[in-house]
Amino acid sequence: DQPIRVGLLGAGTVGSQTARLIVDQSEELALRIGRPLELTGVACLDPAEVTVPWIDKALLTTDTMAVATSNDIVIELIGGTGAAYTFVKAALEKGASVVTANKALLAKYGPELYELAEKNNADIYFEAAVGGAIPILRPLRESLAGDQVEHMLGIVNGTTNYILDEMTTKGLDFDVALRQAQEKGYAEADPTGDIEGYDAANKAAILATLGFHTKVGIDDVTVEGITHIDAADIAAAKAEHKVIKLLAVVGRTEEGVSARVYPALISDEHPLASVRGSFNAIFLHAKYADDLMFYGRGAGGAPTASAVVGDVVTEARHIAQGTRGPAIRMYNDFPIAPLDAA
Ligand code: HSE
Repeated sequence: DQPIRVGLLGAGTVGSQTARLIVDQSEELALRIGRPLELTGVACLDPAEVTVPWIDKALLTTDTMAVATSNDIVIELIGGTGAAYTFVKAALEKGASVVTANKALLAKYGPELYELAEKNNADIYFEAAVGGAIPILRPLRESLAGDQVEHMLGIVNGTTNYILDEMTTKGLDFDVALRQAQEKGYAEADPTGDIEGYDAANKAAILATLGFHTKVGIDDVTVEGITHIDAADIAAAKAEHKVIKLLAVVGRTEEGVSARVYPALISDEHPLASVRGSFNAIFLHAKYADDLMFYGRGAGGAPTASAVVGDVVTEARHIAQGTRGPAIRMYNDFPIAPLDAA
């Protein structure tokens, strides 16, 4: 069978693990899809720095545009809203489907990219962009497509959850805990966005857009991070049998849609209080389904790569069968509601 051509943009923590899952499981994935996947190129800034044994050196290139425009499926794991935007657009304009983990890109340009994908008969999948390995976006796009999502609240940043957890359970200093989160591969290349809440805000914007079928961008999210939290705050919370968790809260009310990220004090008996380390959890309330809860590893190379490769297999099946995934239609025009509406 003719292989489905896959190009990978980025070979960092998640990119290199994505390549590993595709290469190590190639025979089984071909059986699941009905056609083999062929990794045709891996674009990176410096090929000399990519030393993992499962990436064939001959595939490494600095010509990112060539990889973006010569494949059936393009996996974007560059991150950020600069080069990534250029290459994702180029891929979609060529009619290639895109798989990305890039929450910042989607929180800024999502609606434009969703429309571009539909116009070019291409799919865009991004399960890894929210909650790492946790399946939350496909449930919103597919399983809950017959319901009305009313609100979601969740722990959607592994770095800050890890930091708060280490401060609470081990009394570690903020800086020490942050360094550990970086060493474990949870934090972004620049962790400022993690600790100041912007990473979680990007995810809140994506959740709200998919959940409420309306455009919610990063600028619509009210953000407060955890940089001002210290040992005294943690101790004060403990004394009241509470814990501090960075929460993303998105809701739909009579007034419109609200989206907010902030460090919340929650009872230590609340189910979210038991979400430890780099784990994430999203609670969702829908009109007919009632309460749902999603839990799993929200950060780290292999867990995030699991979601990325799940999307690749999903899209490869569509290509093998000549079908398309669900388009993202944002037909509601809800205003952004005042904060207390959440
Ligand atoms: N830096 C992110 C986090 C990675 O800590 O959750 C997953 O998006």
